[in-house]
Amino acid sequence: MQMMDGKLVSEEILEKLKLDVEDCRKQDIDPTLAVILVGDDPASAIYVKNKEKACAKVGITSLAYRLPADTQERELLDLLADLNERPDVHAILLQLPLPAHLNSDRLLAAISAEKDADGFHAANIGKLLLQQPAPLPCTPAGVMELLKYYQIDIAGKECVVIGRSNIVGKPMALMLLNAHGTVTVTHSKTRDLPAVCRRADILVVAVGKAKMITSDYIKPGAVVIDVGIHRMENGKLCGDVDDSEGHAAYLTPVPGGVGPMTIAMLMKNCVTAARNSAL
Ligand code: GUN
Repeated sequence: MQMMDGKLVSEEILEKLKLDVEDCRKQDIDPTLAVILVGDDPASAIYVKNKEKACAKVGITSLAYRLPADTQERELLDLLADLNERPDVHAILLQLPLPAHLNSDRLLAAISAEKDADGFHAANIGKLLLQQPAPLPCTPAGVMELLKYYQIDIAGKECVVIGRSNIVGKPMALMLLNAHGTVTVTHSKTRDLPAVCRRADILVVAVGKAKMITSDYIKPGAVVIDVGIHRMENGKLCGDVDDSEGHAAYLTPVPGGVGPMTIAMLMKNCVTAARNSAL
């Protein structure tokens, strides 16, 4: 079984982006990402810190807005409107999940589509559907880059995506379809999930349940992408997949698989937004 090294591939992407940032600076563009974190969800705090670290690595300026959990929607809408207007800010990221009193759909829609670092805006999801250039949701875009790096053909392959979230499952299915895969999207109501998964040449797992996808779900020789990340009682991290019988031909580790690729794609979206701002 070949491990798909997301850390290695992401570092290569970040090295290239570093050169792109230098090019931007030569044109007097200082690529800048505004990151907004509301409340004190510990996982989100770690994700935001990692995003800031990646910015520092490639030379993107990051502006962090750490706001209290009781921040009102009006204040956030005002902040987003201000950041949308600022010519020195090229990309905006609102870290999810938000505290329950805030409407994430309304807030994500308030980020201008051009500055949408995550590719979550309805206009950008629409462009993905229509195969027009747009910032792409970072996790599925990172998965596509990993498949490309390991020269895994998608055209004509049976691709099964477990999970139908707006952030991962749905855009993942669109990207695989755009790459000519034969795509099945499964979810909590799917009947006989193991049998559907065993059809997959490429299985993308984003269920959010630790070690739920055992070898019984995996066809021997399949490519398995594990989007999950969970902290176990012993403090170690694990994914949604536990292929103890080693059916997969390729598998992404957790950590060091999809996670670093997601951040690399975020950096790519920021650099592209900065470049586009000069057009
Ligand atoms: N929360 C979990 N994943 C993500 C992501 O990709 N972007 C944002 N903004 N929040 C998240």
